[in-house]
Amino acid sequence: MRRLLIAGNWKMNMKLDSAKALAQGLKEKAAGVSEVDIAICPPSLYVQPVGAIVNGSNVGLGAQNAYFAKAGAFTGELEMAMLTDVGCQYVILGHSERRHILGESSEFINLKVRAALKAGLIPIVCVGELEAERDNGVTNDVNRRQFDGSFSGVSAEEMKKCVIAYEPVWAIGTGKVATPDQAEEVHAFLRGLIVEKYGKEVADVVRIQYGGSVKAGNAKELLSKPDIDGALVGGASLKVDDFMGIIEAVRAL
Ligand code: PGA
Repeated sequence: MRRLLIAGNWKMNMKLDSAKALAQGLKEKAAGVSEVDIAICPPSLYVQPVGAIVNGSNVGLGAQNAYFAKAGAFTGELEMAMLTDVGCQYVILGHSERRHILGESSEFINLKVRAALKAGLIPIVCVGELEAERDNGVTNDVNRRQFDGSFSGVSAEEMKKCVIAYEPVWAIGTGKVATPDQAEEVHAFLRGLIVEKYGKEVADVVRIQYGGSVKAGNAKELLSKPDIDGALVGGASLKVDDFMGIIEAVRAL
């Protein structure tokens, strides 16, 4: 049985005061939740002050990105070991906003995935098709390509630690959520890819989150599907009650 992981991707939102207040509020309200794993991923600059608040609680800490190289002359970048140094357990990699706005390729993301694993972080690796790709019937091809590229050279033992987030790009921040059946179809396909590459024992433990307009009102139906093992939440992770609403909706599943 895979434990659900509900992770908040705060993206480039909030200022320090509101970030700290959100972390404090979540820590208090989530204190009694033991059934699911919870994580928050603030903007990098706020990881440390937010981490100081949730440290020792059941709210895990992640970053939204980092670089693959070891410390050195990489102006503006952060090393994976810097994230663990300030208490991160997770790092989101390959988010569609980084793939499509910042131009990150699966090959580049792969370097980061491997570096994150070496540093002892749990990478939350995002994959997902554009609306036009779905319309053109190439959803599986796109997700296969992103899966193969992002996890190239990752061992079976390392793969077990990874989290995949299936995030159809057309559902991110649009309010246009995938139906539970649409999502489950891709999740089952992705699990099949893990079986192909690593075998069933590995595929059975890898958590595959769904992301894209998840809210308290649709979370239970989505996460009730057999291959949907959590949610990566953007907009609805920015308010304590919205995020807690998702956690409350699924903690009994
Ligand atoms: P959303 O974002 O929940 O605002 O759609 C999800 C994500 O991009 O991770």
